[in-house]
Amino acid sequence: MKTPRILSGMRPTGKLHLGHLVGALENWVRLQNEYECFYCVVDWHALTTHYDDTSRIREYIVDNAIDWLAAGLDPQRSTLFIQSHVMEHAELHLLFSMIVPLPWLERVPTYKEQMSEIKDHDLNTYGFLGYPLLQSADILIYKANAVPVGADQVAHIELTREIARRFNHFYDEVFPEPQTLLTEVPKLPGTDGRKMSKSYGNTIALSEHPDALKEIVRNMVTDPARIRRTDPGNPDICPVGDYHDVFSDKKRVAEVDQGCRSAGIGCVECKMWLFDSLQKRLGPMYERRKDLESHPNDVLDILNEGSRKAKAVAAETMSDVRKAMKIEG
Ligand code: TRP
Ligand code: SF4
Repeated sequence: MKTPRILSGMRPTGKLHLGHLVGALENWVRLQNEYECFYCVVDWHALTTHYDDTSRIREYIVDNAIDWLAAGLDPQRSTLFIQSHVMEHAELHLLFSMIVPLPWLERVPTYKEQMSEIKDHDLNTYGFLGYPLLQSADILIYKANAVPVGADQVAHIELTREIARRFNHFYDEVFPEPQTLLTEVPKLPGTDGRKMSKSYGNTIALSEHPDALKEIVRNMVTDPARIRRTDPGNPDICPVGDYHDVFSDKKRVAEVDQGCRSAGIGCVECKMWLFDSLQKRLGPMYERRKDLESHPNDVLDILNEGSRKAKAVAAETMSDVRKAMKIEG
């Protein structure tokens, strides 16, 4: 049996934070043991929303790749690459645009949601509507068997399967239908208790210096019922409590629960414990990151080598596609 292949991608639109770590990266690292993995920095997808200012995209591509490596993605086992270095994605996207009915794209739930949510960019562009189509090309060009994503992306993978079926039906059996590998994402609010979002400034970057991390944790919002040290609280409605659930061991979580409800511990102490738990996870990453940052050319080499490997696979698929469509050279 051939090792099944997965593909996933992340948009380089800023520094990665804890949400990326527990919502995707840690899962990607685990999947390396079972799958042949392709992980793509999808810079063209970043342009679908951030097309008017591309000044920092290079910086984010390398910075994100550093976080990937620091988190444990292993270029010996996984192919780490840049979407725009494999131009075949664009060719497949174009060909798909010929066969996909517009309503398939217009009814994608993320499309309407983002159109009404994102106010600071004009999203009435051709590229934005085609976002999930480009994503389908990313996936199908590697004939991926499965795609690890969060719940918000499920509709995109369904669309990918429909496109694969439509192509196979019109021409030839070229594409397998990829399965969704739904990532279990633990509850992790922003540091202020609102939804975690870069635009709220309530995220914790993976690259945070330990001193800055301590400061952020110190300033986290707590259960407002605990005005005085002697007031009992409820860790279930406290962001610090939520973070303990994700990052601390069982014993610590039990201590927090008991101590908070009985006013046996103070919030200052509770936050120091959280800092320790976070530091245990992020500290080793911080060290690896420092090492990688002092060798930026090594990171670029990894991405270039990955892109070369990805391109070889993508080119083969495109040759199948052109043959199936009878438009080969
Ligand atoms: N749309 C994905 C997201 O926002 C990113 C993405 C682009 C992707 N291409 C992909 C994910 C291919 C999985 C497979 O998270
Ligand atoms: Fe939150 Fe901890 Fe304070 Fe309880 S003790 S309110 S969990 S910070």
